[in-house]
Amino acid sequence: MIKLKVDENQCIGCGTCISLYPDLFEMGADGKAQVIDSKKDVDESKIKEIIASCPMAAIKKNSE
Ligand code: F3S
Repeated sequence: MIKLKVDENQCIGCGTCISLYPDLFEMGADGKAQVIDSKKDVDESKIKEIIASCPMAAIKKNSE
């Protein structure tokens, strides 16, 4: 199962991921993006595109 996570140390809160994928990401109280449902299975074909959308490369695969 493929899941995503946001590395809070790399995220600068630019909001690109939230604008492009509002069903997957939201802004946290700390001004950094977070995955809305970390258990959500994301379509494998979209993973690369989603990861590439972040200018800081803060979006990662989460294999937990
Ligand atoms: Fe942060 Fe990247 Fe999204 S910098 S707000 S994870 S596009």
